[in-house]
Amino acid sequence: MAQQRKVRKAVFPVAGLGTRFLPATKAIPKEMLTVVDKPVIQYVVDEARAAGIEHFIFVTGRNKAVIEDHFDIQVELNATLKKREKHDEIASLQAGQPKPGQTSFTRQQEPLGLGHAVWCARELVGDEPFALLLPDMVMQDDKGCLTGMVELYDKVGGNVISVEEVPEDQTHNYGIVGVGEDIDADGFQIASMVEKPAPGTAPSNYFINGRYILQPEIFKILETQERGAGNEIQITDAMLKLAERQSFSAYRFRGNTFDCGSKEGFIKANVSFALRRDDIRAKVEDDLRLMLDAI
Ligand code: G1P
Repeated sequence: MAQQRKVRKAVFPVAGLGTRFLPATKAIPKEMLTVVDKPVIQYVVDEARAAGIEHFIFVTGRNKAVIEDHFDIQVELNATLKKREKHDEIASLQAGQPKPGQTSFTRQQEPLGLGHAVWCARELVGDEPFALLLPDMVMQDDKGCLTGMVELYDKVGGNVISVEEVPEDQTHNYGIVGVGEDIDADGFQIASMVEKPAPGTAPSNYFINGRYILQPEIFKILETQERGAGNEIQITDAMLKLAERQSFSAYRFRGNTFDCGSKEGFIKANVSFALRRDDIRAKVEDDLRLMLDAI
């Protein structure tokens, strides 16, 4: 088996306006909304770190500076916590803290689409494979979605995209892949890809759930990629072109995915992660039962 080039860098497109969450997102980026006690973006960065990512590249926009602050060290806060002997709090801050030089930030200056946002990271990624994680999608899985993808990538190389099944009447909301030959229990070859297919035209019900491992040749294609669905430059359209030359494999993700870009998904994420926390589970569970009984 050929040795694959290691996936060291991850790109997080965080330039979106978050209009679905107004007024909450008027002054706060949607990626900083909290699920239990961590901002959404922290879950996604932690997933990347667990998969071996060493460099975190954020494609930001106006009003997103607080994301950069979040991943910096708060010297005064640390000093105060230390003085007050708040050891748990110090440990929880340290756990999410990137090491010096591990983060980079660039701006998508205009909202031209996901493909364009990824292209904005081309100089920071350079000529090596990279992971792309869409922060709206928060995954809950013991192994970690990207960790599973890296395992598949180590076997097959090329490009790897995580997919899940979705009811057929929802395929028009997502990028959908066509199913080719099985690779193993966790993966199959991708036969086709389409971004937000018109109802009734999807090649399968496997949707792209927001995690990708891509080869750097995607950047050259994105440079001239025309606008597609929603009049935006789409990563799916560029991947379709790259698939003419390189392999694309699907990783079947079997954990839970919460679309924290939607109100229902965000609330579900909060409830589900709270129910998995030893410190608050019992109380939350009791309260939920009481609330449901009262309806
Ligand atoms: C993007 C991708 C789409 C993918 C989805 C997952 O769409 O273009 O292929 O299925 O994320 O959330 P968006 O949600 O930005 O419209």
